[in-house]
Amino acid sequence: MLKVINVVGARPNFMKVAPIAEAMRRRGREFAPLLVHTGQHYDARMSDDFFRDLGLPRPDVHLGVGSGTHAQQTAAVMQRFEPVVLEHKPDWVVVVGDVNSTVACALVCAKLNTRVAHVEAGLRSRDRTMPEEINRLLTDQIADLLLTPSPDADENLRAEGIPAERIRFVGNVMIDSLYAQLERASRSRVREDLGVKGEPYAVVTLHRPSNVDERATLARILAALERIGERLPVIFPIHPRTRARLDEFGLADDVRAAEPRLRLTEPLGYLDFLRLMSGARLVLTDSGGLQEETTALNIPCLTLRENTERPITVELGTNRVVGTDADRIVREAFASLDVRRESAPPLWDGQAADRILNALLEKQT
Ligand code: UD1
Repeated sequence: MLKVINVVGARPNFMKVAPIAEAMRRRGREFAPLLVHTGQHYDARMSDDFFRDLGLPRPDVHLGVGSGTHAQQTAAVMQRFEPVVLEHKPDWVVVVGDVNSTVACALVCAKLNTRVAHVEAGLRSRDRTMPEEINRLLTDQIADLLLTPSPDADENLRAEGIPAERIRFVGNVMIDSLYAQLERASRSRVREDLGVKGEPYAVVTLHRPSNVDERATLARILAALERIGERLPVIFPIHPRTRARLDEFGLADDVRAAEPRLRLTEPLGYLDFLRLMSGARLVLTDSGGLQEETTALNIPCLTLRENTERPITVELGTNRVVGTDADRIVREAFASLDVRRESAPPLWDGQAADRILNALLEKQT
């Protein structure tokens, strides 16, 4: 019986850990899981709603770290996670994705000689100004088992000198959640509530510091969204960080003036967002997860960044990396509306969680 601590911290972690926690529950003779929430995300709409929607168990331990600078947040997770590992002495700690909680918990484990597995290992944007790229690089250097979502990730790790026996290609566990929840999501009334049922619409999400922390960039993107809104309504569930910047930069009134072409909503839960996204004609985003989910759903996606750590979504999928120039965004948006493409990267099949569990068992013996 393997004792495993699964770590979640921020919104994009929840849909990656849910299928792993569920598979461990199902395989209760082989696994004794504990769930630790670092508290990096703490608002109901950024955290609790996802536990409900994804059927995640209540965390066994909540570290309650909250917001702060990168150093404060990372240090707070480390300080509070170390005693948890010392107390429970797990066989494995599983960390996912690339948020500050991921690297903080991996580093605690490496120092305590506790085995740590990284799910979604090997992705690289090659842009070290992104905090997530630093988290990815460091976590992969110190983790004992690197579980990758796509073959390009294996290549990146090998190129960094990581021995092949630490790397295992398991596929994309976030797509397990997507397939598992699509039917439940179909009962959401979000399209009706937002007044877009039966008509074409676009969905946008933005939260990267590089897009929202500088006024000129954010204003440029908003101008593009307003122009797209003249063709079809653009629904914008807004991340708390982005909401705060709109107010700070005095852009909130401009956005309100663009209603109803551009419709702001609070951040949505997993099922509502899945329902909204799956009916969209187009998604515009700077999120990593959405690039993958739109690939799995065959929805055209424009990535409003200069690079992506998920090139398979461009090569095999529906994604285009278009930057933040307003004219280019509008041009690409209109050109994408009628694009349809079948896309199924290998092992994005809804079965990644069981492969992750098998890899933990095999590596243990
Ligand atoms: C974090 C992750 C990012 C991920 C994103 C998803 C890092 C370095 N970044 O970025 O990779 O894509 O989560 O959302 O880990 N806030 C709230 N309520 C919350 C959480 C945050 O109001 O529940 C506000 C706070 O003002 C906070 C700000 O959002 O300072 C940023 O939160 P933080 O967790 O630092 O980073 P994200 O931008 O959310």
